[in-house]
This record gives sequence, structure tokens and C-alpha cells, in this order.
Amino acid sequence: MENHSQNGTQDLLQVSALNCIDLSNPNIHQSVSLLKQACLDCGFFYVVNHGISQEFMDEVFAQSKNLFQLPLNEKMKLLRNEKHRGYTPVLDELLDPDNQVHGDYKEGYYIGVEVPEDDPDAEKPFYGPNVWPEDDVVPGWRQTMEKFHHEALEVAKAVARIIALALDLEVDFFDKPEMLGKPIATLRLLHYEGQVSDPSKGIYGAGAHSDYGLITLLATDDVMGLQICRDKDAKPQIWEYVAPIKGAFIVNLGDMLERWSNFIFKSTLHRVLGNGQERYSIAYFVEPSHDCLVECLPTCKSEDNPPKFPPIRCATYLSQRYKDTHAELNVYNNHQT
Ligand code: OGA
Ligand code: NI
Repeated sequence: MENHSQNGTQDLLQVSALNCIDLSNPNIHQSVSLLKQACLDCGFFYVVNHGISQEFMDEVFAQSKNLFQLPLNEKMKLLRNEKHRGYTPVLDELLDPDNQVHGDYKEGYYIGVEVPEDDPDAEKPFYGPNVWPEDDVVPGWRQTMEKFHHEALEVAKAVARIIALALDLEVDFFDKPEMLGKPIATLRLLHYEGQVSDPSKGIYGAGAHSDYGLITLLATDDVMGLQICRDKDAKPQIWEYVAPIKGAFIVNLGDMLERWSNFIFKSTLHRVLGNGQERYSIAYFVEPSHDCLVECLPTCKSEDNPPKFPPIRCATYLSQRYKDTHAELNVYNNHQT
């Protein structure tokens, strides 16, 4: 297999060797050490034996397919709202405006933490009711997605405990109520339609970006596509594929954790290249509560290494990042039903 690089020449396919964290490993020191190494190096690693059954993962992928296979006019009825819930059409998201001529060649579906409209918490920017398809259109869909949301959060919390130890914090540092006790967590189903990407023409499945939040869990089907760039300042940039491993999550750190750790832990640039095959992936973005103050961790600063950024409220930070990367909703006015 070959890959077209930015200048149009052909490179041999490079596949990244990432550390693998086994959540069933009783030797926690070993897990902490593998994870720490990965976080210092590129912020990407695999997580296996995470407790979500393969059978259930298959069901989530099947339900994702059921939704994306609906006709476009059905999907447009579920168009995302102001709170980033619901369907995002192809080209909606533009992650790397300097290098992309269009938005991403992917469609998606956002599902956040379900909070009823009449709950005072629903006023918060990242809480509210989700957009759900009618049950007769995709039977059982909501139940499947709610169950996955719930189970993935447990995996994220388990990973966060190992991250806390790797940062010399108390094991339950991220379990506090203002952190993952009341998290902002967003499940995003993704579907790449099978377009061939062409970096030399600015066409990507997903443009180069780093994720905004604390951590992201990513489940993919077996179609290769995700690439990471360990050094964004290198010229030319070198992109390595991350191979899918059946049953594993690919976990990566987001910019919020990079900032929180005073840039000790890395949030790495990544993108998706389409190779002509259809591809499905499922991302689960995890952030602390709205009011959590993201302020340089006590173990990540010293007199010689003072905080590089001022504290910021989690919700303020996230709102800005979403605004920077998504189309204005009024571009879809013609489709509103
Ligand atoms: C993302 C992302 C990768 C993929 O949604 O942030 O990087 O493989 N997705 O779909
Ligand atoms: Ni990403």
C-alpha cells in the first residue's frame, strides 16, 4: 500500500507503533509507565480489555450504519442544533482551513449528555436534550447509543485514573465532582463515504487537527485512514498511519490536557485520509464539568517551569474551539423542514 504525500510523490506506508494499555493488567505500575511514555511522546496509545464487549461494539457500529444509510432528507431532519447535538453533513466541519479547500469528507452525529429541557442544567452550553431519530426509523437506536455513552464513560474514567498516576496526582484526581463526576462527554459517530483524499489538492476525510478536550476514545472499523504527525513543525511533515486493532480503542490526549499539564503531555496533530473505501469510526470526547477550572496542575510547574497559560473555564475553552471549526448553522436554512 502506498500513500501520496503532500508534494505528490509516493512514500512507503508508515505505520506507527503505539503503546498498548491493558485495563485488565493487575500490574498498575506497568500500565502507568507505558501510558506515561506514550503521553510524553505523542499522546496516542491503544487501550484493550476495556470491558465493552465486542458483541456490543458490533451493535453500535451496525446502528451507526443504519443511521447514515438513511436518505439525506431524513438525516437533515436531525440536523445538529446550537448545542451540537444531531447530524453533521459532509463538509460541515473544516478542521484545517490553511490546507483544506473544502470541509471534511465525512458526515457525523453528535450525542451529548442527555439533560431534559426543563432541568436547570440544560442552560449550560454543553448540556441539553439530544436529537434522537424516531424509533420506527431506526429501531432501538437511542438505547444502543445511551448504553454506549454510559459504558465509554467508565472506560474514560479508568484511563483517567492511570493518567492521574502518570502525572503524580492522586489516583482519583479526575473523579472529583467538578471533573469527571459531572463531565461533558460527547459521542460522535462518523462516516467517511469512500472518497479518495488528495492532500496535494487539499481534499481530506478529516483535516489535520488536535482534539480539544481531555481525552478521546476512538473505535474504528478495519479500514486504515487515521494518521498522526509527531512533529507539526517538521518540514515536510511526516505522517504515520495508526493501524486499527480489533476490539481496541485508540486513545489520544486533547489540547485541554496538554494545557493542564503545562505541555508536558502531548496532544498530537492527526487527520484521516480516505483511500476509496467506506469507513466508519466512533469517537468519544471526554471533558470535565462546565465550571472546572483548567489551571496548570500542581505537579507540572516549578520555579524554572512556570505555567505557560492562564487558567480557563472548561466551557469557555470548548465553546471557542467548536465555533472555530464548524459552519454557521444558517448555511442550512434551505434544508430546514
Ligand atoms: C476526530 C478524529 C478520527 C477518525 O473525530 O476527532 O480524529 O478516525 N477522528 O475518525
Ligand atoms: Ni480527532
